[in-house]
Amino acid sequence: MRSDPLAFLGEELESLRRQSLYRRLRVLGGEQKAHTTFDGRSVVNLSSNNYLGLTTHPRLRAAALAATEKFGVGSGSVRTIAGTMELHMELERRLATFKNVEAVVVFQSGFTANAGTVSAILTKDDIVISDELNHASIIDGCRLSRAAIKVFPHKDADGARRIIKSLPAGGRRLLITDGVFSMDGDLGPLPALCEVAEETGCIMMVDDAHASGVFGADGRGTIDHHGVHGRVDVQVGTLSKAIGALGGYVAGNRNLIDFLQHRARPFLFSTSHPPSVTAACIAALDVLTSEPEIIERLWTNTRFFKAGLGRLGFDTGPSESPITPVIAGDSATANALSDRLFAEGVFAQAIAFPTVAKDRARVRTIVTATHTLEDLQYALEMFEKVGRELNLV
Ligand SMILES: Cc1ncc(COP(=O)(O)O)c(C=O)c1O
Repeated sequence: MRSDPLAFLGEELESLRRQSLYRRLRVLGGEQKAHTTFDGRSVVNLSSNNYLGLTTHPRLRAAALAATEKFGVGSGSVRTIAGTMELHMELERRLATFKNVEAVVVFQSGFTANAGTVSAILTKDDIVISDELNHASIIDGCRLSRAAIKVFPHKDADGARRIIKSLPAGGRRLLITDGVFSMDGDLGPLPALCEVAEETGCIMMVDDAHASGVFGADGRGTIDHHGVHGRVDVQVGTLSKAIGALGGYVAGNRNLIDFLQHRARPFLFSTSHPPSVTAACIAALDVLTSEPEIIERLWTNTRFFKAGLGRLGFDTGPSESPITPVIAGDSATANALSDRLFAEGVFAQAIAFPTVAKDRARVRTIVTATHTLEDLQYALEMFEKVGRELNLV
């Protein structure tokens, strides 16, 4: 019998276990809500990106059901062949108006929006200048483009400027940052980076996945939050987090969007969203503009929870958003913190290397608009209890 050619994967997994980096998937028992069931245990859920509770909002649910009734469950093709429905066009028009740009193209996910865009607009003759903590989808897009990759220190606009000024002439340059960094919850320094891009002739790109629906007027994102409209050439947003459904989009000028529709490989070679997803996203835009109290609640909850963690003495890093990491140090301690919290009815996922640096393993908390103050107070009490057990506070 032939030996298993995939045996090396078992060895890799064993190595992950030895380093406390092997994690089992937790299974959601019901709806993705602030208080729900994972692995059969009722918990306060501090791990979802469902910032506004829209995954179960009645208007989104009704829109998805109606679209399924009317159009069926799938689109049946990639966008460029037979998979563009009037709903897809409507969502893109609505997003363009919402984001105050000429045009928008929707991708299957934020990941494919980033990776597909960077790899489409750059070639091997170009250079990308990227924050060291940018999301994996940006990194993969950069690699796929075969452009030279220059990494600048986190949030360091002067560092980015120095790198750009030291580059040889020739080729296009793309300066790229996350709007909100997903592991620390801090914000990219957009005004300073826009200045650098303008000074040095770079294309400016922002991945606003964690800002869509969270920052700016009615959740228009960090471009709106920082008041840098018209200064960011390529804006990526996601429909999978605060918007509550699935997808990513690129917002920019007409040429950019036309070009991506001809060259971005996920757009060309992967089937478009089912009608239910697209209809839910359209309904989400209605909710953002007609129920502003939801975003206000998100921020009230965020302030309450952050202040609580701070008072307890946890190291919560530089977060400015509803994402608040509780830094534990090594991965074994982060896993212990997460597991003990889970046993006490609080789900806050541990995040370790390679997602974050080896000595910055953490439990990442994400507050949503739908947590009650009692949920958050309970979670804080459990953080205090378990934090003391593990000598973190
Ligand atoms: C910063 C950032 N960009 C992009 C993405 C990808 O978004 P999506 O989940 O829609 O693929 C994520 C999500 O994990 C993210 O955190």
